[in-house]
Amino acid sequence: GEEVRTIARSERGRARGRGRRRKLQNDRKMVVIGGYDDSMKRLGVQSWQVGEGFAPTYHFDMLQDRRRNEAYRRGIEQTVEEDDLVVDIGTGSGLLAMMAAGAGAQHVFAIEGDPKLEKAARLVIEDNRYEEKVTVIGKHSTEVKVGYGLDVPFGANVIVTEIFDSFMLGEGMVPTMHDAVKRGLLAEGGRVIPAGGRMHCVLIESDWIRRHETLRGQDLLGSVEEVKRASVEHAREAARKWTFEEPIQVHANMMLARKLARQLSRPFIGQIFDFAHPKLQDQRSVSVEVMEDGTVDAILIWWTLDMEGTGAVQLSTEPEGYGRGGFEDERDGYPPPQREHSRQAACVLPAA
Ligand SMILES: C[S@@+](CC[C@H](N)C(=O)[O-])C[C@H]1O[C@@H](n2cnc3c(N)ncnc32)[C@H](O)[C@@H]1O
Repeated sequence: GEEVRTIARSERGRARGRGRRRKLQNDRKMVVIGGYDDSMKRLGVQSWQVGEGFAPTYHFDMLQDRRRNEAYRRGIEQTVEEDDLVVDIGTGSGLLAMMAAGAGAQHVFAIEGDPKLEKAARLVIEDNRYEEKVTVIGKHSTEVKVGYGLDVPFGANVIVTEIFDSFMLGEGMVPTMHDAVKRGLLAEGGRVIPAGGRMHCVLIESDWIRRHETLRGQDLLGSVEEVKRASVEHAREAARKWTFEEPIQVHANMMLARKLARQLSRPFIGQIFDFAHPKLQDQRSVSVEVMEDGTVDAILIWWTLDMEGTGAVQLSTEPEGYGRGGFEDERDGYPPPQREHSRQAACVLPAA
């Protein structure tokens, strides 16, 4: 065993010891992340200790995203009823599973496909003494077997999940929920947190995005050679891979405030999702109110989740400043992101 002192970071970022000592088993090293928000404190999460080679770092700012955690906590408290069987798809550190257990669920099955995070979830859940209420399953949800004596005994009354990226769908929410319904992981009439979501779209013109899309290896050579001759090959390779078939993550405020893009249309709803009844193919025709002439280079996207089905509790990645009739921020300088963890996405359209 190895003994490591727990360190908590003060709000100013200075490290100070809390003097709490813990015995660690095997070769585990302690990673301590400070500044937990209220919902984590409510759950009694003090520190998050995991093995080496641990989780993708996005988990840390995600866990500190107060709005996100609060929206999930409220959604869970208003949806989960006593005696409910709850499944958390993609439990990560176990946060939402513990919230569901805290809200009175009879039992929670916390599913996590990444072995490092599965391990983290077990540690955090044990640390918080939820191990009798929460069972961690180290599998991808599409491999979970439902039935007596199997992974999960019967379909859940409630599925809670947070597998949303800036594009909303990039982590596979729709196929994941489609599969979950098909394999009986969600009981008939079961509820999903979030119950639904909307994808908001704006047509934009952006030389900046277009230039990036057409960036060729040769374009990079000159500048790279000047800076660092050794990395020309690397630059060529990077440029080759630089294609925008996938939506790119953008910071809409910043992009529009710096005039890297121009808004051509009013926002419109691109897609509406009911996660308990997910459709793999869903085409919609939408009418778009165009505000200005221009070339549509990309569609800017943000999303809103309806946490408990009435619209009373929402979580959104709407860019800050939008609500005032446009994106232009009247203040000097660049507005900070509304929520650091979740930005917006841009789907780049192929050149005409
Ligand atoms: C955005 S994180 C959210 C973690 C945690 N639920 C939270 O809210 O803090 C998503 C997690 O889900 C896992 N994941 C995504 N899709 C999954 C699936 N279909 N089955 C199991 N795990 C999944 C990822 O490995 C990742 O740890």
